[in-house]
Amino acid sequence: MLFSKYPDDIKRFQEMTNDRRRIIDNTPATPLPKTYAVNELSKALHPNVIPAEIVDTKEIGRNCKIITLKSTSENGRFPYFRAGQFITISARVGDSFITRPYSISSSPYQAMQGIMEVIVQKAGLFSAYLLEEAKVGDKVVVGEPTGDFYYDNIRDRETIVAIAGGSGITPFISMIKSIIEGSDDFNLIVFYGVRTRSDLLIDLDSVKHEKIKVIPVLSHEEVDGYEHGFITKELISKYVPAKYSVFMCGPDAMYNFVTDEFVKLGLDRHSIRQEHNSIGDRQFVEPKVFKLTVHIRDQVYVVDAYQNETLVCAMERAGLAAPVRCKSGSCGFCHSRLVKGEVTTPEKYESRRAADKKFGYIHPCCTYPDSDLEIDVPPFVAGEMI
Ligand code: FES
Repeated sequence: MLFSKYPDDIKRFQEMTNDRRRIIDNTPATPLPKTYAVNELSKALHPNVIPAEIVDTKEIGRNCKIITLKSTSENGRFPYFRAGQFITISARVGDSFITRPYSISSSPYQAMQGIMEVIVQKAGLFSAYLLEEAKVGDKVVVGEPTGDFYYDNIRDRETIVAIAGGSGITPFISMIKSIIEGSDDFNLIVFYGVRTRSDLLIDLDSVKHEKIKVIPVLSHEEVDGYEHGFITKELISKYVPAKYSVFMCGPDAMYNFVTDEFVKLGLDRHSIRQEHNSIGDRQFVEPKVFKLTVHIRDQVYVVDAYQNETLVCAMERAGLAAPVRCKSGSCGFCHSRLVKGEVTTPEKYESRRAADKKFGYIHPCCTYPDSDLEIDVPPFVAGEMI
């Protein structure tokens, strides 16, 4: 009954073994490729870390430098990225191995040519090292571009109102270059708050494009042709159209003040995107010192951890290659297991899922020790490269 209903299928089934033999007999005995095109593409787009060299450092503004990096990877390129994203830079500083995030100021096109630029402002130990000690020819390791602080035409309106404070202009410089080069297509209105003209980190004359407008706002200087004061709702209304999305990058105080101004204009707080700022030390007059036991693969290290510093800082100070990307609890790259001990994660940097909390996972980049601790940390390959 079945045979008579599906004669062709049965015939094909009976031939299957012979067909397979024929294909095998006709296949050349050449070895299979070691890698496949799709894997190569995936590796090029997501290399995790890229070896690089400092090829230029240039003073810009007050206590700031543009650091230019060149990829020394096999293909000589950095991965393509979205303007607005950040990279990490890792280097050995004395006995420490430090990794810090920096917004990219170069364009996605430059990355394909093996060039990446960041603007470094004097803020902490590593920035001071990059500003004062790092020199042309020094080797560093760059973490692949990351972050969601970029224009997305599905999510965002055609006009982006950017609020930048100080070196917070960096991701918008990348967006400006990307629009001028044609990699991005949206209208960009940048309110750029600085104290005086000498703090500006962008050459206003280089920004000539019908889709871009940069409005410098000087808080401590009155100059013809420049706005003066703070970025208020009156100032915003003077320049922006009815419909727009908001991106902010700068200090927390600026976020709070300007967000309130947008809310007064009727904008929903949730439509304002703020780039995450890295966590710093917490304040203690006399911080206690705890014992931090760190498992990385099959190695065990015991290091000091000060009560006021994050677990990542404690590991880095001891020379361990701690996994770091955002340093703000937002990316999950440093996701580690708390084997035992007491810790604190400030509410503002708390982004763990309920399951992470339940099963004892932490983000050491924004976790402070409250007792002796034991943690299990994923290996960070950058530590094996320099
Ligand atoms: S480095 Fe991103 S969550 Fe820790």
